Amino acid sequence: MTAKQRVVYELPADLDPNRLPKHIAVIMDGNGRWAKRRGWPRTMGHRQGVETLKELLRCCRDWGIEALTAYAFSTENWGRPLEEVDFLMALFERVLMRELREMMEEEVRIQFVGNLNALPTSLQAKIEESRESTRNNHGILFNVATNYGGRQEIIRACQEIASQVQQGQLNPDDIDEVLFEKHLYTAGLSHPDLLIRTSGEMRISNFLLWQMAYAEIYVTDTLWPDFDSSEFHLALCSYQKRDRRFGKV
Ligand code: IPE
Ligand code: IPE
Ligand code: MG
Repeated sequence: MTAKQRVVYELPADLDPNRLPKHIAVIMDGNGRWAKRRGWPRTMGHRQGVETLKELLRCCRDWGIEALTAYAFSTENWGRPLEEVDFLMALFERVLMRELREMMEEEVRIQFVGNLNALPTSLQAKIEESRESTRNNHGILFNVATNYGGRQEIIRACQEIASQVQQGQLNPDDIDEVLFEKHLYTAGLSHPDLLIRTSGEMRISNFLLWQMAYAEIYVTDTLWPDFDSSEFHLALCSYQKRDRRFGKV
């Protein structure tokens, strides 16, 4: 499908285009339960979850969201059965290649956060190819958290900073939030304004720990494969009702 043929999502009239979140982060949870309810293997849920993510990305693009960060695989997800991990790695690879043309047509700029070196080398190659091919696109920034863990990200930043101190390139007194953020995977990216988590779990599960300090949190019981544009609309309605005080009055 080309950009011209596909459905264009109109911004619902009850949303204020001037008060949309610039950066949305999403914990795509509930694929396994969605499949289980249908008596299907968990992998079917992951497959369907990809379709949901595609729809959300389009919606974000059409509604003028600047960045979407999606949690695809956590540092803890390696603890799942090998069969499921292998399926996910192969799925990521297939989807990246399948969707590259459309991402180019839609001017999507894809980036990745996480410890990518630990991923299968064939997946690393596809990641690099998609990142490199889309780097000059001018549309939405689509950030995929793959083998991502907030704690791992913070420790890695500390190690980089410590080694600069050790080499005499940096004075410990000069370490502040601005400097620290330069060592995070998300360097240069604004903090998420809104975190969406599906499937009703009220937790962060090691996602963007530093960056989430002032994110508005929206949790829905809807399982990820069922999270469509009308569910997204509800999340944005909730966001627009929030009073973001950032510690002030
Ligand atoms: C989220 O769905 C997808 C990944 C973690 C890759 P789950 O696989 O966690 O689904 P549930 O939570 O078991 O239903
Ligand atoms: C978080 O979901 C990770 C991703 C969505 C990739 P999990 O299903 O792994 O989180 P927990 O285990 O419920 O905390
Ligand atoms: Mg889960």
